[in-house]
Amino acid sequence: MKILVTGGAGFIGSNFIRLILNRRPGWDLVNLDCLTYCGNLENLKDIEKHKGYRFAHGDIADRVTVDTLLSEGFDAIVNFAAESHVDRSILDASPFIRTNIEGTLILLEGAQKYGIKKYVQVSTDEVYGSIENGSFTELSNLAPGSPYSASKASADLLALAYWNTHKTPVVITRCTNNYGPYQFPEKLIPLAISNVIEGKSIPVYGDGLNVRDWIYVEDHCNAILSVLENGKVGEIYNIAGSSEKTNLEIVHTLLELLGKKQDMMHFVADRPGHDWRYSLDDKKIRRELGWAPSYDFNRAMEMTVDWYKQNDSWWRRIKSGEYSKYYERMYHHR
Ligand code: NAD
Ligand code: DAU
Repeated sequence: MKILVTGGAGFIGSNFIRLILNRRPGWDLVNLDCLTYCGNLENLKDIEKHKGYRFAHGDIADRVTVDTLLSEGFDAIVNFAAESHVDRSILDASPFIRTNIEGTLILLEGAQKYGIKKYVQVSTDEVYGSIENGSFTELSNLAPGSPYSASKASADLLALAYWNTHKTPVVITRCTNNYGPYQFPEKLIPLAISNVIEGKSIPVYGDGLNVRDWIYVEDHCNAILSVLENGKVGEIYNIAGSSEKTNLEIVHTLLELLGKKQDMMHFVADRPGHDWRYSLDDKKIRRELGWAPSYDFNRAMEMTVDWYKQNDSWWRRIKSGEYSKYYERMYHHR
């Protein structure tokens, strides 16, 4: 089995590559990543010389790059590559349109042209928008609330249209909020842990009562592997963590795990258009593919805090470099 993984130098993609190399030793993986601000080859340092792995530096939105690579011959594509941060999409949506929509289109065209047997589009619960009560199923309407989620919903629709029109063997996964090693420290959990270790307070948007469903990244990666191997083409699979928490609950848990006082946080201006709650019904993937999350929330949060404590040079380098300029621009008024 030879797989093209895109965006494999990011958070979830790097965890997925590591999981595949461990769990499917005979497979060959090529990681196509253009290394944006959050693409980081340090995330793959321990496996960069693995005989089943190769890095290809390039952009999914560049047709020549994708065409040249796919002409080598691949069995499957797993598309993680994306602009992934909601706050950045509020500041400037253009890169989201280019990578998340145009990049997906180019990969779909390539999948079609080169007879790829399975194309997995890694999507998000955010495409359904916010829900007051209950949970979205795969049949729920799309109602994205941010430029980021609108770009991901567009990509999902394109992928389904390629299945409908060309029978391109597309499968879509929609997962809730991930946490774990190698998450870029602009997202709530790594930002909070690293701030506290640096002696800084945690910024909480609005009243802190927005709800997210949290899943340990390895559980998400296992679900993607199940979908890659056994998912039915033309289908969508929701992936949930079954751990819905308010942002304040997350912050309190982290402060407790870090042994700090609960007042090491402060409220800041809310995110414009902030989705209140995400929640997914994941009965379909459990029933049809036999997948279920295996990590307990409290245990996995503990493991995550330990990882960021033990790997502080990883996030300190990021926070002190190019990232810090962005960080200042985003947070100087808060
Ligand atoms: P990330 O931002 O950490 O990583 C994205 C990766 O894509 C980076 O390595 C980046 O360099 C690469 N990339 C960006 N534009 C590219 C381009 N044009 N060509 C090639 N590579 C490019 O993101 P993540 O959190 O690991 O998310 C991965 C995927 O999972 C995304 O599609 C995201 O929408 C989806 N997702 C994320 C979560 C979450 O909680 N993080 C939850 C559900 C779904
Ligand atoms: O739901 C899946 C999505 O989860 C993925 O599709 C996105 O790629 C990923 O970034 C994530 O989106 P969120 O916006 O939910 O994640 P983020 O970590 O940015 O924020 C989580 C919650 O915490 C959200 O309600 C906003 C809030 N927040 C965030 C930051 C960065 C704060 O209160 N303070 C912060 O400093």
